[in-house]
Amino acid sequence: MTEIKPRVFSGVQPTGNLHLGNYLGAIKRWVALQASHECIYCVVDLHAITAQLVHDDLPGQIREIAAAFIAAGIDTDRHIVFNQSRVSGHAELAWIFNCVARMGWLNRMTQFKEKAGKDRENASVGLFTYPDLMAADILLYRATHVPVGEDQKQHLELTRDIAQKFNNDFSARIAALGLGVPMDVGAETVNGYFPLTEPMIEGPATRVMSLRDGTKKMSKSDPSDLSRINLTDDADAISRKIRKAKTDPDALPSETAGLASRPEADNLVGIYAALADRSKADILSEFGGQQFSAFKPALADLAVEKLSPIAGEMRRVLADPAEVDRLLAKGAERADAIALPILADVKRIVGLL
Ligand code: TYM
Repeated sequence: MTEIKPRVFSGVQPTGNLHLGNYLGAIKRWVALQASHECIYCVVDLHAITAQLVHDDLPGQIREIAAAFIAAGIDTDRHIVFNQSRVSGHAELAWIFNCVARMGWLNRMTQFKEKAGKDRENASVGLFTYPDLMAADILLYRATHVPVGEDQKQHLELTRDIAQKFNNDFSARIAALGLGVPMDVGAETVNGYFPLTEPMIEGPATRVMSLRDGTKKMSKSDPSDLSRINLTDDADAISRKIRKAKTDPDALPSETAGLASRPEADNLVGIYAALADRSKADILSEFGGQQFSAFKPALADLAVEKLSPIAGEMRRVLADPAEVDRLLAKGAERADAIALPILADVKRIVGLL
């Protein structure tokens, strides 16, 4: 019987500038997980063509995301960094999962509804089946833990549903081939092939909001550049955006309960806490009673201190695009070596060999 070892997988789409939400909700936490887990971090370029097919410079965008991973502190010797399209197993397993997932499940995906908008008939089929590819990304490595921001929660629930349906539908075949691993499903223990992946949605910045509107998520697609801090922003831009960030007229509360129904204040305190590796309660014990005129400069200084070195390192890494390509190719080779036997098992289970 094979063992499933703890393994982290996560990914970022190479579409537009990386922002503070991507960094605090995902990449910064990926860096921390390297000490305790085997990690695979992926530039999900196949996902990037689902919403928009033609990109001006997709290779450049892929390199930029890889450079951001490296600049933020991902160690490409000890862990795996690669781009999705170099490992063909992602697309192959996604096809099998297209046949596992049900239309009704995908119809419930809120991100599809948001991205397709009113013109659903004109959305690509790839955008609709996007979550199946995401499940394939994770389960191609039988990953057990997936650190993401809160907006990915529903997709990770679907990943578990796909794993569970696959394990159930093929339970006899999995057992006959001796490929089952005991796993807890609610109160019972069953033998399955795919693990039921744990989402890791943790910390004070799982949903970083727009700096212009505390009720909207910070996003790459917001037309206002003032709404987000890009990882490539210089110190002046970071300070200006924080100075202009929307706030309310009251002083900061001394306890987190006082942040309820104050979305902008809550967001800025969350950003400070995540950048400083402290809790919101801790930040409020220091700044409670102070006005934003005092808090914003402190936040700007902290953001510049933490983010400027990353932007500088990204520029250094990107100065040698051939080296970035080499690192991605090397990462893909290592990813493929893990994926191939898993894909071979899946094909045997399904009966495809
Ligand atoms: P993407 O590229 O939209 O975002 C990358 C990561 O950043 C997080 N994030 C945020 N976190 C906090 N606040 C925000 N405002 C914010 N905006 C984005 C996202 O939650 C994500 O963790 N479908 C994924 C990519 C993907 C993936 C995967 C992730 C494809 N396959 C497998 C995990 C595992 C996406 O579009 O992320």
